[in-house]
Amino acid sequence: MSTLTPPAALPAPTDTTDSVLEVENLHVAYGSTQVVRDVSFRVRRAEKVGIVGESGSGKSTLALAIVGLLASNGSVSSGAVRVLGRDTVGLSDREFDRIRGRDLSLVFQDPLTSLDPVKTIGHQIAEVLKEHTPKISRARIRERSIELLNSVGVSDPASRLNQYPHEYSGGMRQRVLIAIAIANDPAVLIADEPTTALDVTTQAQVLEVLDSLVDRLGISVVLITHDLGVVSEFCDRVLVMYAGRVVESSPAASLFAHASHPYSLALLDSLPLPGRSRSEPLAWIPGAPPAMTDLPTGCSFSPRCTWAVDACSVVAPPKIMVGAADDHWSECHRAEEVAAAAPVAEAASAAPPESPAPAGDPAPPATPTDDRTPDASH
Ligand SMILES: Nc1ncnc2c1ncn2[C@@H]1O[C@H](COP(=O)(O)OP(=O)(O)O)[C@@H](O)[C@H]1O
Ligand code: SF4
Ligand SMILES: [Mg+2]
Repeated sequence: MSTLTPPAALPAPTDTTDSVLEVENLHVAYGSTQVVRDVSFRVRRAEKVGIVGESGSGKSTLALAIVGLLASNGSVSSGAVRVLGRDTVGLSDREFDRIRGRDLSLVFQDPLTSLDPVKTIGHQIAEVLKEHTPKISRARIRERSIELLNSVGVSDPASRLNQYPHEYSGGMRQRVLIAIAIANDPAVLIADEPTTALDVTTQAQVLEVLDSLVDRLGISVVLITHDLGVVSEFCDRVLVMYAGRVVESSPAASLFAHASHPYSLALLDSLPLPGRSRSEPLAWIPGAPPAMTDLPTGCSFSPRCTWAVDACSVVAPPKIMVGAADDHWSECHRAEEVAAAAPVAEAASAAPPESPAPAGDPAPPATPTDDRTPDASH
């Protein structure tokens, strides 16, 4: 059995004064099955945080727990969520109604089912405005609705207010949902797969809209996606989720340059990144994610991991700090070795030239996938 990397001490909690959202040791269960396990992260003002992982990894459950919209069989088992410093776990529906929309908002994947087909877009925006400002005048509703549609790039907003959802394209409907979500100036917008149902061009336009909200209004965005390519275009910081846990957390540039968890590496390998030869086949991750009712012992990724050593299926990996950044960690016994072998790409668009290399880690060559796989002697 090979020697495991001793865990480096995690840094002391940093100043949280500019945090708009803090999630601390959050566990969420459906019945007795834990599907979100010990998730912690924070989001600063005007920060763009990506949460990425395969289907079933618990991303939507995490989002729903944060916005207080878990299904009736779901509950927060332990942990804390703070929105603008206020604890929200355990709030009544009524109390949460006052926070939702005003302090934080959620945009879902499917714009068609999220909009009411028999009400005009103007009516639906007005409803949300009235929710938090019951005495708002009709003139102000109209003015604000036009302003909102303008801000998400819907042209000719005055006349489009009178149209129904079916008169909008998929991309335009998603813009409307974003307009509705920001109607009451939330500090945080959580977007759950907002571009998944859209073609690539429309997807890029919707990301641009989100970007402009961050720049112009200082909104923070948590972007949930199964697509690391989307994250590379948009996010400042990335959390990689697997089987309900965050297994790697990193500034985006650092993740793309020095992914330190084999699962993150595998996700990167499956991306058609710029700079990668067309003849180089895209990798795929063998096997399937584990059932949340039957998680492997030790590291949950061990049955699929090409880096696994004997201890991995026995001992759960600790969080290990990697690289020079003080905010890049990976839950992998071999994090430092993975990071040292890593970079998929200078090609990754998210890695700006100034991104720092980890201390003592010489600029490694752009090694082909197979060369990064450790030998089997461990
Ligand atoms: N209402 C529910 N009741 C029971 N299990 C659920 C419910 N919703 C989701 N799950 C399960 O929780 C796990 C995480 O699902 P989800 O949060 O939707 O993941 P993701 O968004 O990453 O695809 C999956 O195993 C899924 O089947
Ligand atoms: S702890 Fe072991 S099994 Fe888990 S990701 Fe790291 S090397 Fe792979
Ligand atoms: Mg989901």
